[in-house]
Amino acid sequence: MSETSERVKTGIPGLDGILHGGFIPGSNVLVSGGAGTGKTIFCMQFLQSGAMKFGDNGVFVTLEERPKELRREAERFGWNFEKLQEEEKLIIVDAASSKAGLPTTEPHAIRTGLDINALAQEIYRVTKRINARRIVIDSVSGLGIRFEGIAAVRNAIFKLSSLLRELGATSIMTSEVAEGSTGFSRYGVEEFIAQGLIILSLTEQDRELRRSLVVRKMRQTGHSLKRFPFEISSSGLVVMPGGEL
Ligand SMILES: Nc1ncnc2c1ncn2[C@@H]1O[C@H](COP(=O)(O)OP(=O)(O)OP(=O)(O)O)[C@@H](O)[C@H]1O
Ligand SMILES: [Mg+2]
Repeated sequence: MSETSERVKTGIPGLDGILHGGFIPGSNVLVSGGAGTGKTIFCMQFLQSGAMKFGDNGVFVTLEERPKELRREAERFGWNFEKLQEEEKLIIVDAASSKAGLPTTEPHAIRTGLDINALAQEIYRVTKRINARRIVIDSVSGLGIRFEGIAAVRNAIFKLSSLLRELGATSIMTSEVAEGSTGFSRYGVEEFIAQGLIILSLTEQDRELRRSLVVRKMRQTGHSLKRFPFEISSSGLVVMPGGEL
């Protein structure tokens, strides 16, 4: 695909320019970072702006926060996920409740414990149902708890990313990395499987934590390699120009 092809805009102010217009349609991007770096908000904003600005329906597969927590969090940024769900512009797949051993009344939920095949089937089904163009899996680190051994987790991640590619939607997976760790993902394979990698960081400067992001890889496109400061404002992530921290 050429540089000038249509892009999938993240809708995150300041980011699409860094990406030369947005994500490559149909690609799978890993957003990785430590705790509280903004991964979940990034994903919500990607789906919110997709649905509201670009006419793209979305699927949010949550493995960590329960759907009602996500809706409440979204509301704090002025994003009405409940309405998007009612209008079938957004489907939230609840894979968090069963993982936590909690009951759920969500219409789209994995109820059989976290079975990777069941999860893949549900993602496939709901994506087809609303013809979703954007999919988020937050986070693949959450897959680990139910799986025996790292090989099984890697296999599960591989399965999910193959499915995402097969579905042709543009997708984000998140992965949590310990602050100060040398890798980019929890299981050490996500960054190789994904076509793109964006790293969110919180680093200390003058006794204050500052947020920044860097686009580490994005196959099939040029992109800035600078580190960009960003903020989480009342309307979500805003990436600052300049590339200086
Ligand atoms: N309205 C807001 N204004 C400014 N900052 C906010 C606001 N809401 C949340 N934050 C910041 O965003 C952080 C949470 O972001 P988010 O949940 O996306 O992180 P995460 O990377 O998904 O974390 P985790 O690894 O725990 O899942 C909070 O710790 C807080 O610092
Ligand atoms: Mg999160």
